[in-house]
Amino acid sequence: MPIKHDNQSITKFPSHFTWGAAAAAYQIEGAWDSDGKGQSVWDAFTKKKGAVWEGHSGNVACDHYNRYAEDIELMELIGLQAYRLSVSWPRVMPEGVGKVNPRGIEFYDRLVDRLLESNIEPWVTLFHWDYPHELDLKGGWLNPDSPKWFADYTKVVVECLSDRVSNWITLNEPQCFIGLGHLVGEHAPGMKLSLQKVLQAGHNALLAHGLAVQAIRTNTKQPASIGWAPVGAVHYPHTDSKEDCAAAMAGMHAVYGDNVWNNRWWGDPVVHGFYPEEGLRAYGASAPKVKSGDFDIIKQPIDFYGCNIYSGVPTKAGSNGKPEVVTLPAGSPHTHFLWNRTPEALYWGTKFLAEHYKLPVVVTENGLSCNDWVTLDGQVPDAQRIDFLRRYLLCLEKAIDEGVDVRGYFHWSIMDNFEWAEGYKHRFGLIHVDYETQKRTLKDSAYWYRGVIRSNGASL
Ligand code: NOJ
Repeated sequence: MPIKHDNQSITKFPSHFTWGAAAAAYQIEGAWDSDGKGQSVWDAFTKKKGAVWEGHSGNVACDHYNRYAEDIELMELIGLQAYRLSVSWPRVMPEGVGKVNPRGIEFYDRLVDRLLESNIEPWVTLFHWDYPHELDLKGGWLNPDSPKWFADYTKVVVECLSDRVSNWITLNEPQCFIGLGHLVGEHAPGMKLSLQKVLQAGHNALLAHGLAVQAIRTNTKQPASIGWAPVGAVHYPHTDSKEDCAAAMAGMHAVYGDNVWNNRWWGDPVVHGFYPEEGLRAYGASAPKVKSGDFDIIKQPIDFYGCNIYSGVPTKAGSNGKPEVVTLPAGSPHTHFLWNRTPEALYWGTKFLAEHYKLPVVVTENGLSCNDWVTLDGQVPDAQRIDFLRRYLLCLEKAIDEGVDVRGYFHWSIMDNFEWAEGYKHRFGLIHVDYETQKRTLKDSAYWYRGVIRSNGASL
């Protein structure tokens, strides 16, 4: 059901709202084996025949490792207030544990300094999927020591950066690196394990989150704001009937037994300290083994609930009120990735999370995949992205207007980049990257977003 917007330009975004953009180490840095960096599971995975579209890899990507200063100049031009970056674990600790690579950590040191020089607040994600290959050989997330490994790495990063960094995100999308990486096998490390093993790996990832929060709180040199960035099924009502609204909410509460793409299996332990009953029922004998004290580690006070939201599932009340997915009419707008364009997702998704978890929400990712190119006159006229963002941000504004506590919005992505198993097929950036020449071109959406930031959303 399309959300109606009143036609006025008075911003509903709070004055302290954070406008940013995001990227992740493996997707933009390149320099895959420079300056003592160790290999990640993605370095290994991209070498496997057929694993990634057209055999692409992040070996060079946007060469951000060498061009970060130029990239930050462009961020400044866009007027970004915050930039969400991720640290590559094997760049900092080539074997994942033990020895720290000074040249690796120095890169993030320089990056943070350069951001601050431009008055851009760094938001640091500790894990955005480039797991150390050496640790993967020891069982990776399945190894019971993996939470501790992650906490030790977190300590190293926090000791180095926390004099200047106060915003931290522990894990990015466990649903993906566990689900796509260990169940479906489409992402690194490319495993297709039993659901029991997958959920055990997921449990270790949740423990890693908890220990990392502790490591940040213990080692930070200034008060820290900590969250995480999961994804999940966002349902929105097909009509504005009470029944459909309730069905959409029920859809977001649901845990189905055949996949891990849900909200509460992951979020409830982190915020409430237990797995949801419905999840335990749905997974049955595949549920992970939980040791006493595990939930005390997993449930740490966090300061915001991040969410990566791109698309939603239109949902109506089916027989006895159960959520039922509605098929959109043929020809409905979709992205280059074939995800439905459903701006309502940003309204319903943030509302659900804020109501269920009672935490401030930060949209840690949202954006549109296109096939943008530079025109003969040297511009990138990405009108569709502007319209997409306008629709989504208006829905976010409506949520805020109704009292949902949303603190920030990070566009995915600052620049076109390596889209995992899809290689360079999709472009998500505000900045176009020519991967052959490494030339950057600001897309029309970058100039448009600058206006949104300057006006704190009033220009939408
Ligand atoms: C989720 C991931 O966090 C990010 O790495 C990816 O590129 C985008 N969404 C788009 O798929």
